[in-house]
Amino acid sequence: MTHTLTRIGIVGLGRLGKIHTQTLVEKLPNASVTAIFSPEEVALDFLTLEHETVPFFSDYEEFLSSSLMDAIVICSPSSYHCQQLSEAVALGYPVFCEKPIGLNIDEVLTVKKQVDDTPNAFVMLGMMRRYDPSYRYAKELVDTGQIGELTYIRNYSIDPANQLTDFIRFAKNHNSGGIFLDMGIHDIDLIRWFTQQEFSRVWCHELPSSVPTFSSLNESETAMGSLTLKNGIGASLLLGRNSVHGYHVETELIGTNGIIRIGSVPEKNLVSVFTLNGVLRPCSQSFSERFEIAYVEEIKAFIQAVQQGEASPISVEDGLNSLKVAIACQRSMKKGQLITLN
Ligand code: NAI
Repeated sequence: MTHTLTRIGIVGLGRLGKIHTQTLVEKLPNASVTAIFSPEEVALDFLTLEHETVPFFSDYEEFLSSSLMDAIVICSPSSYHCQQLSEAVALGYPVFCEKPIGLNIDEVLTVKKQVDDTPNAFVMLGMMRRYDPSYRYAKELVDTGQIGELTYIRNYSIDPANQLTDFIRFAKNHNSGGIFLDMGIHDIDLIRWFTQQEFSRVWCHELPSSVPTFSSLNESETAMGSLTLKNGIGASLLLGRNSVHGYHVETELIGTNGIIRIGSVPEKNLVSVFTLNGVLRPCSQSFSERFEIAYVEEIKAFIQAVQQGEASPISVEDGLNSLKVAIACQRSMKKGQLITLN
């Protein structure tokens, strides 16, 4: 079945809602944002181009029944994803939903059953790293055997110190699920994507924090994990919220015949500045900057898959499997125990 899909409704207009709205309004000529659901009205002054006035709804049912859109992009806080997804799928909307798909397994299993039981239901998860040109290039190299068989994957995901206040505000207002659900889920999804394997064991720890607010919020400033996949591949995660030099997302893929590194120095661009102080390579300072292209490409992929009647490239099952691992990591860290997954 093919759809025309140009009118998109946005759910939640915070950091990600603004990124996806900007993509749809300014970067995709055939798409537009035609309705917004948000508890509070947010000025659209973050858009740089002229734009039409977009109707705001503060009632989700009214928004869904407005007939103003063909598909929905959910960017609300994570604890609302499953309920909002479920209501949208029940009304036949194709849905793009930000990560993580939910915060507990039962709510995701309920949504999965609903999606599996609904003919033509379409749900795609926002895992933008899969659409980053460097990660896609690396995936091509891995898939064509350029580094032999994968044996180990090392991952760093560390938010910049300059966004610490933003994160603390976010964590005060909403349950992020903890560092493995909120941040590690990206690395977990990437490892599953690169290896096409699921995880068998996780062992995680919290590392010392220099910011006391974290423990009162039940959040972690830095955490690490040692993970094993079912076929024996090993992986490590280093997750943090306080990188002084910028937004540091790095992946190292070690194979029997070579090594691939993505983002080992998180450069902003190809510029090096040579001065009396030495050589400076400016770094990316935010996820929106580092993954600017990926955020556009994932929304393009969503629209294309719905229009062409293709299967979702990142399914509810992907979301569920990654969530199970992230929850196990979170539990392992809290209990100080190695956890075996089924
Ligand atoms: P944010 O705190 O910047 O914005 C959340 C917005 O949702 C706020 O404007 C708030 O008013 C609104 N909101 C509150 N309750 C709502 C409800 N019931 N329904 C709809 N909107 C509601 O949060 P941010 O950073 O935009 O995160 C939103 C989602 O995006 C989260 O699930 C988060 O995990 C995900 N995210 C994904 C990233 C990625 O790289 N893919 C990066 C950052 C966040």
